[in-house]
Amino acid sequence: MSNLSILQDFPSDFTFGVATSSYQIEGNSYGGCGKSIWDDFAERRLNGIDGQKACNHYSFFKEDIKLIKDAGFKAYRFSFAWPRLFPENDNQINQDGVNFYHRLLDEINLNDLEPFPTLYHWDLPIRFIKNGGWENKDTSKRFADYANFISKNFGDQFKSVATINEPWCISWLSYYLGEHAPGKKDLNAAVNSMHNILLAHGLSVDSLRSEHNHQIGIILNNEFSEPIDQSEKNIQAANLFDAIYNRWFADAIFKGKYPQISLNLFEPLMPQDYQSDLKTISKPIDWLGINYYTRSLIKSKISKDKINYDCLRGSLKKTDMDWEFYPKGLSYFINRIHKEYDEKIPIYITENGMANNDRMNSKGDIEDLDRIEYFQLHLQEILECLKKGIPLKGYFAWSLLDNYEWSYGYDKRFGLIHVDYENFSRKTKLSYREFQKYL
Ligand code: FCB
Repeated sequence: MSNLSILQDFPSDFTFGVATSSYQIEGNSYGGCGKSIWDDFAERRLNGIDGQKACNHYSFFKEDIKLIKDAGFKAYRFSFAWPRLFPENDNQINQDGVNFYHRLLDEINLNDLEPFPTLYHWDLPIRFIKNGGWENKDTSKRFADYANFISKNFGDQFKSVATINEPWCISWLSYYLGEHAPGKKDLNAAVNSMHNILLAHGLSVDSLRSEHNHQIGIILNNEFSEPIDQSEKNIQAANLFDAIYNRWFADAIFKGKYPQISLNLFEPLMPQDYQSDLKTISKPIDWLGINYYTRSLIKSKISKDKINYDCLRGSLKKTDMDWEFYPKGLSYFINRIHKEYDEKIPIYITENGMANNDRMNSKGDIEDLDRIEYFQLHLQEILECLKKGIPLKGYFAWSLLDNYEWSYGYDKRFGLIHVDYENFSRKTKLSYREFQKYL
């Protein structure tokens, strides 16, 4: 039977934590928080299923921090909500929002947990829709100002900070595939947002550093791509997928250029001065966060816009998202960053976990053995990488709580802790208690 005894094999300076994000847990109807592009998207596309209440972490944050502490975790990754701090416009501060994050950070620090805030985890204030959101370079500049505000106001309450969570999701998934807010399906919009979100990162590195000497990182999601067979066309299709999904972002940050295969397609659509922006984008950072969940099988297809591939799922064991268990992909990316990008960069696994069709047993308990197995298999891969001497610093389980899983609403449960969305009660699952036992 799966268990998490593997946790005992990690060195004592390796940090274990849990991760969440603002829109997914806080509840944006509380505390004067403004609307974000996700409220708009939820109204238009998700039958109004939104994050207005979510887990009401806004009211329950003390209990949640206590749960993190009681499990033996040492760090908490959360995100600031831009619309909570600036609900109406870029100049008018919501003092309740400022107070909320002060209290949250105090509570984290009082409990001897290390805060790992992310500045942007997808809740762009709704007012940016009329400017084109991430299609518009001006949003990147506004983001740098917002980053500066955070550093100025909260900077002495944390040491490490991530700028952006998952630029691929913010751009490709949201502007090309249309599956996330704002739900566009437009290659031109996607390409511009793929560049502008990286520029936002680069500009914010400067605006953060102008206030504090933080450890600054960015969080990239990586998905392993495997051609469905070894035919030349499927191999090429998998390379293109990899260049768009993974390498686009890592190449820009670590090498100051974009991968040629995707640039061949995108160059005519790129903002004019993109090359000079790449200098800003590739400013040195202090650590890299990798979010990893699964792999895709790639099959070539002919498409008018030359995005010539389809993503399929294979036949390995799957999570409730229909994502395959593919732990080898995690060590693949850790090795790749280490070997091909930056040998010295400290790496954190900032998200990893699974949605499970959790069922309560007759005693009212959730014995989420598949989730425990998922964690165990991925931790095994990390341990192998550590043994090779790769500077891996920590692991954050996604997620502390069941929460708002974006376009899936509340149907998909990723938490170590079950949430009853009627009364916000929290109940630990077996996976939580496994962490607790071995941490
Ligand atoms: C990641 C997101 C996170 C959560 C997990 C399942 O892409 O960063 O918010 O939705 O997937």
